[in-house]
Amino acid sequence: MDLNSKIVIIGAGIFGLSTAHKLASEGYKNILVLDRHVPPTPDASSNDINRIIRFDYGDADYLAVAREAFELWSRSPRYEGIFVPTPIIVTCTKGTSGSVYFNRTTSQLTRAGIPWTPLESAAAAHAVLPQLTGPLAAAPFEGYYNPNCGWADAAKTVAQLRDDCLDMGVSFVGGAAGTVTGFETTGGGSKGGGKIKAARTVAGDVVRGDFFILTAGAWSSSLVSMYNSVLATGQVLAYIRLTEDEVRKYENLPIYLNLSTGWFNFPPHKDTRLLKAAIHGRGYTRRPGASDVAARADTTTTTTTTTTGTIMRSIYSTPPAKPPHGRRIDYAPPDGEARLRAGLREILPELADRPFERTGVCWYTDTPSGDFLMDYHPDHPNLFVGGSGSGHAFKFTPVLGKYMSLGIKKQLPPNLAQKWRFHTEYADKGMSVFLGDGSRDGPERRELRQDERAGLDNAPRGKL
Ligand SMILES: *[C@@H]1O[C@H](CO)[C@@H](O)[C@H](O)[C@H]1NC(C)=O
Ligand SMILES: *[C@@H]1O[C@H](CO)[C@@H](O)[C@H](O)[C@H]1NC(C)=O
Repeated sequence: MDLNSKIVIIGAGIFGLSTAHKLASEGYKNILVLDRHVPPTPDASSNDINRIIRFDYGDADYLAVAREAFELWSRSPRYEGIFVPTPIIVTCTKGTSGSVYFNRTTSQLTRAGIPWTPLESAAAAHAVLPQLTGPLAAAPFEGYYNPNCGWADAAKTVAQLRDDCLDMGVSFVGGAAGTVTGFETTGGGSKGGGKIKAARTVAGDVVRGDFFILTAGAWSSSLVSMYNSVLATGQVLAYIRLTEDEVRKYENLPIYLNLSTGWFNFPPHKDTRLLKAAIHGRGYTRRPGASDVAARADTTTTTTTTTTGTIMRSIYSTPPAKPPHGRRIDYAPPDGEARLRAGLREILPELADRPFERTGVCWYTDTPSGDFLMDYHPDHPNLFVGGSGSGHAFKFTPVLGKYMSLGIKKQLPPNLAQKWRFHTEYADKGMSVFLGDGSRDGPERRELRQDERAGLDNAPRGKL
């Protein structure tokens, strides 16, 4: 790849945009980003009012990289008005598997020389942060406080990256001409391997390129075989509309994360007066239905030797079809909604029974180990695949492009190259290999019931 090579990036989420930005800054002149939408893509997992920016990790590599990113979030003028420093309280119930990850996290913080304050009881948590009005947890409570945390406005982050990319000469194509349905390759054979020559789009265009970067999140697996290394899981979230007075009242609310359930909250988002709570748990799966397969098969070109139908058979879960622009899903499975309210009852009981402004399901792209993916595709030598954020990548936005670029040049530090490699060994091993990184406790992952699926697929128009 030289500076004049045509680079086609498929997917304008944080992985795609930060890669385009980094490569443009390195002097690559011919970069094209394709997506269904001009970013911020309304239904991308990166498009939301806020995301937690923490470096508390039970793994030394993620802790180090997240800390590198945190330094940028908290110090770079670039993130003024986007990043808001906010302390975090991480808790769990002793004896649950959340407790194992809790221990790993506190050991890693100690190892890295980062101060954290143990909270021996709910009373100790109240003493540090009286804004938490609820009973918090009954014994056996375990917790700590870290003042160095925060949240970022996700949509603003993405919009800024997009504008910077445009300033640097990156091109974008959205709509039908940006919606990729498959690839043309030089190879034949049942796998359709070989170099990628072009991407085909819904509009029928053939977008040629020298080098392709696939950062399409959960959708990547309908374009190439991902060897059962990604699984889309749905996680519930809810927004509560506050009054101006309440926004002031909760202004200094910390982020509270209960590792035993995955429940966490944000302080109020001032622009929208929304307070968000969500569950970072094992989640729900949504098996592809006949309509999902048909929708994708329809758009598959005959020139790709791997048919969408074949690829789809090995996909265990897929998000519902996208709602039209401006429409948002307003639905969460009842047990998820109940868990969201249970968490509120423990932290902010006065809000626990208020009608939600909107609920939703955020789709993660999980890998079996919860590690990201930044590696060459095993079947296509000019296809680099990045993503699989497994629900924890957004905080890395300021450094993702740097690592993607290192990966493309095969210069990632060995520990990260190992961690983020493309796994082929899970192919044919089923869904049980998706165990995660241990940070997601709570009820077992489960398939959505028929009624929940209907609720989600036909969810009414959200008010946001
Ligand atoms: C976590 O660490 C504490 C203190 O070192 C220990 O008592 C507890 O057994 C550990 N829990 C788990 C689940 O590893
Ligand atoms: C975590 O949530 C569960 C279920 O709502 C609750 O029983 C437990 O007390 C909570 N633990 C903490 C530390 O908040």
